[in-house]
Amino acid sequence: MESRVLGKTGEKIPVVGMGTWALGNSSGEQRREEIKALQKGIELGMKFIDTAEVYGHGRSETLVGDAIREYREEVFLATKVAPENFAYDDIIRSCETSIQRLGVKFVDLYQLQWPNPRIPIQETMRAMQELVDTGKTRHIGLSNFSVEQTMQAQESLPRSELVSNEVRYSITSRSIEAELLPFCEKERLTVIAYSPLDTGDIPIGRIPKDMLAKYEMTPAQLMLNWVTYPDPVVAIPKAGRVSHVEENARSVDVRISQADYQALSKKFE
Ligand SMILES: NC(=O)c1ccc[n+]([C@@H]2O[C@H](COP(=O)([O-])OP(=O)(O)OC[C@H]3O[C@@H](n4cnc5c(N)ncnc54)[C@H](OP(=O)(O)O)[C@@H]3O)[C@@H](O)[C@H]2O)c1
Repeated sequence: MESRVLGKTGEKIPVVGMGTWALGNSSGEQRREEIKALQKGIELGMKFIDTAEVYGHGRSETLVGDAIREYREEVFLATKVAPENFAYDDIIRSCETSIQRLGVKFVDLYQLQWPNPRIPIQETMRAMQELVDTGKTRHIGLSNFSVEQTMQAQESLPRSELVSNEVRYSITSRSIEAELLPFCEKERLTVIAYSPLDTGDIPIGRIPKDMLAKYEMTPAQLMLNWVTYPDPVVAIPKAGRVSHVEENARSVDVRISQADYQALSKKFE
């Protein structure tokens, strides 16, 4: 699996990881399949898992914890705190609860899920710094922050550098290309692309068949290959099925040419 440097850290993470929204709400055979899917993904190199305290009211984190028990040291583990918990004490409590549900000693990346203008960003970032200082998280990231909000968050964090911003990005959802993507490129912030498969609503009919044949890729693979083409981008497709995970893990085995990348970009503009 190809990897990318996380922010300015020098540390590498897989270019295709795994999202987990809506995983963990299940029971019985479906739950077992979801756990198997995450474990298969890890075995195939997608050793980056993204979850959040709000996914299934903590059930996603619990499922991830069950899936990674044997693999903790291999996995880059990211979770998020919800905006209603951005007050200092609430963040500390949220992070500790997430760590408990995940069954780990620390997370690798702790992210603010959405901006919350009602709580001063200085207070929020003071708590995030405390979590780094006490070893609860190795890195701090944002999600759904604009350029301006990202700059304010960084200014409120004197002793740490932000490493990432997790935002919606796919071949059909391109709004970050105007400002946020170039900003992240310049500032060396990793862009974590969520919903890279359009939440499963893959625009199959619009993807050129000759390109799929040329690279022997499925539409989902081509979408993941396209979205992770720019250097700061890594993607976190969610798949609750082993067969989908196997497909996604092979999506960047071969890179499409620059000409095909540009042709696809233009077609979906
Ligand atoms: N920070 C945020 O605000 C935010 C917001 C949204 C999402 N996220 C994160 O980003 C992750 C991914 O986004 P998402 O879940 O919204 O959407 P997504 O990854 O674009 O799409 C997920 C859907 O695609 C299907 N799928 C996966 N692989 C496939 C393949 N190879 N072929 C065909 N279908 C495939 C899945 O089906 P199966 O499950 O049946 O395999 C699922 O229905 C989330 O799980 C979450 O971790 C973050």
